[in-house]
Amino acid sequence: MKPLRILVLTHETLVPPESLDGFTEQQVDEFRTEYDVLTRLRADGHEVRPLGIGDSLAELRTLTAEWRPHVCFNLLEEFSGVAAYDQYVVAYLEMLRQPYTGCNPRGMMLSRDKVLSKQILSYHRIPTPQFVLFRRGRAIRIPKRLHFPLFVKSATDDASLGIAQRSVVEDAARLLERVQFIHEHTSGHALVEEFIEGRELYVGVFGNESLRTLPPWELSFGGLGAGSTAIATRKVKWDRAYQQKHGITTGAALDLPAGVAEKLDRYARRIYRALHMSGYARMDFRLRADGTPFVLEANANPNLEEREDFARSALHAGISYAALLERILALGRGYRAEWRRD
Ligand SMILES: Nc1ncnc2c1ncn2[C@@H]1O[C@H](COP(=O)(O)OP(=O)(O)O)[C@@H](O)[C@H]1O
Ligand SMILES: [Mg+2]
Repeated sequence: MKPLRILVLTHETLVPPESLDGFTEQQVDEFRTEYDVLTRLRADGHEVRPLGIGDSLAELRTLTAEWRPHVCFNLLEEFSGVAAYDQYVVAYLEMLRQPYTGCNPRGMMLSRDKVLSKQILSYHRIPTPQFVLFRRGRAIRIPKRLHFPLFVKSATDDASLGIAQRSVVEDAARLLERVQFIHEHTSGHALVEEFIEGRELYVGVFGNESLRTLPPWELSFGGLGAGSTAIATRKVKWDRAYQQKHGITTGAALDLPAGVAEKLDRYARRIYRALHMSGYARMDFRLRADGTPFVLEANANPNLEEREDFARSALHAGISYAALLERILALGRGYRAEWRRD
């Protein structure tokens, strides 16, 4: 690809340094995605500038007008401390007629809202766990049609915020307790789902009009099963020492029952389209023992760190990190936003 001017948008505290010298592993973990992407794009000969964004879009406006980037590489996950506002930055880029990587604002909005996306997916007959929403500030009434065990989480937060062993509840008292916890400790309403016992599988998808899926990726819980429930809590996802202690790993999903890989592939594509996604995404599934995959959520713009699931599953499919980023750039530049439609 010819060298491009690329403006990499990051959270204001996550603009990566030129070199990792002098930083601890833990410090680097904070900005590793930003570092990986920036370093790779530079190594590939692009002209790259990072722009840290806090609570103002003024500099973004100036830079897009004056430097005229071919594309903005969007690594933002919030604006002004509000995670759900990341979609408005993307909307702003569209209004500026500025191409960007990753998902469009509509897809970001639909996929972030777990209830709305589950309603849309049910309409399309894509299996997703039965659910009830407990709104904050309203009386909590437990409907009869729910069967324990249940799973309690935030309807809008991600990165397993508020998810721990206690998210799985076996009775009404525990359910009430956990719903209150979600109301107090996350920004969302409490989404209560039937608990899906089974393997945890992720499927990467990228594309705009035509889609490509990546091979199913599995989070294996290692020795965690004994005494605790195998779910992706915050610790399971982010605590390296905890992962090592329990032998928690991720890798290509092996020995899937006949037909499951095809089902996952088909569902992942249908979810992507149903939620109007573009760029790249990762679908989270749980595979019930009878071979039915249930989608838990669709993640727009999943983590692009080189050693994380999305890049690793791409590599497994023969797509190097450099090629993956080039693909994402090309999709960003090719996306037919409203302003490009005749
Ligand atoms: N209904 C459910 N049944 C079983 N496990 C669940 C369910 N919902 C969530 N989980 C567990 O919690 C993790 C995080 O839930 P998810 O909906 O993907 O939220 P997040 O946006 O925080 O990733 C999942 O990866 C899975 O391990
Ligand atoms: Mg998830």
